[in-house]
Amino acid sequence: MGAKPLREGGPAARIAVIPGDGIGKEVTPESVKAIFAVAQSARRRIEFVEFDWGADKFLREGVTLPPDAVERLSNEFDAILFGALGDPRVPSNQHAADILLGLRFKLDLFVNARPVALLHDRLTPLRDRTSRDVRFMVFRENTEGLYVGVGGFFKKDTPDEIAVQEDVNSRKGVERIIRHAFEYARQNTLKRVCMSDKSNAMTFAHDLWQRVFKQVRSEYPEIESRHLYIDTLAMEVVRDPGQFDVIVTCNLFGDIISDLGAQLAGGLGLAPSANIHPGRTSLFEPVHGSAPSIAGKGIANPIGSILTSAMMLDFLGWKAEGDALREAVRAAVREGLVTPDLGGSKTTQQVGDWVANYVSIGN
Ligand code: NAD
Ligand code: IPM
Ligand code: MN
Repeated sequence: MGAKPLREGGPAARIAVIPGDGIGKEVTPESVKAIFAVAQSARRRIEFVEFDWGADKFLREGVTLPPDAVERLSNEFDAILFGALGDPRVPSNQHAADILLGLRFKLDLFVNARPVALLHDRLTPLRDRTSRDVRFMVFRENTEGLYVGVGGFFKKDTPDEIAVQEDVNSRKGVERIIRHAFEYARQNTLKRVCMSDKSNAMTFAHDLWQRVFKQVRSEYPEIESRHLYIDTLAMEVVRDPGQFDVIVTCNLFGDIISDLGAQLAGGLGLAPSANIHPGRTSLFEPVHGSAPSIAGKGIANPIGSILTSAMMLDFLGWKAEGDALREAVRAAVREGLVTPDLGGSKTTQQVGDWVANYVSIGN
């Protein structure tokens, strides 16, 4: 951003940018470009500071998440724009666990919001479904469950080896994400909340989900609440996605169902997500990973990242600017100005330039 403030008074929004690995490094700059363009035309000030955390730094210096990272991010920044982590040279995925899961846990970003929204009817693999049917929000619990890294090996690398991975669920953790789902439904006048678990098999951890769900749902009598086992949910979202407005589930199931939802809406290249703790520095990343097989070719779809940026702008209170990015992306899809994953022939950069130009000239 230039030295001259675009808006008198008010402080600039400060964004930490972590492009990460693979296509994260290709799509994130396109998002930054689009945000700059929309901020400029709205005469708003925004500053970006880039951090080079990822596989290269890990392999070079042995550093994953620097010790002062969490403090700096929460004290100095309003939000974090994140690309993706994952590199074939780090088969353990150690750096991704430390950085991505580390930030989700240490910043206590308990809400992983992953909206599924069909931008154009031709993009869904489902027959006779339209954007009216494929439109729901997935709330994934983001700080607990099977992701906490509690467990270990016994007799590792022997024929008698045992591996244990604990599923950690706290009443507070379960309650806050379920409550968040109901509040979201209430605030957005959505009628239906579906909680999904596997309480028929996971008789302790998901029994807690059942009990908390029953308690919280009673406080929202105007909302139609329902429970489905996760296997049934996976089947139902494909059979009839129109029956869902809000889905709330645990960390692992939310990871899986959000990729399924992404594909119903045209693929991973389009899917945004937000890791939020309301009122605190939060982290915004596309649902997709670093996609090593297409990295470096300039063909990654930047739309997932740009829609992620729109969620970040909403979070900052810049609703009109978020809407402008969403409208630009819809126009790009409508005009077929898209990357090969959507059948187009544009490069990552060409799509990013087009979106930035669209929001600049205020179409
Ligand atoms: P992936 O999301 O990277 O890729 C899955 C498939 O989707 C691939 O065919 C890929 O080419 C395609 N794809 C993904 N994003 C795309 C885009 N923007 N444009 C066009 N095509 C796109 O999942 P994966 O292959 O299972 O994982 C690769 C690495 O990424 C792994 O190391 C994994 O752990 C990591 N990962 C990281 C994150 C994250 O940082 N948030 C998320 C998922 C996976
Ligand atoms: C995601 C990813 C991560 C997750 C991996 C990289 C740990 O798949 O953000 O969806 O499972 O949360
Ligand atoms: Mn995932």
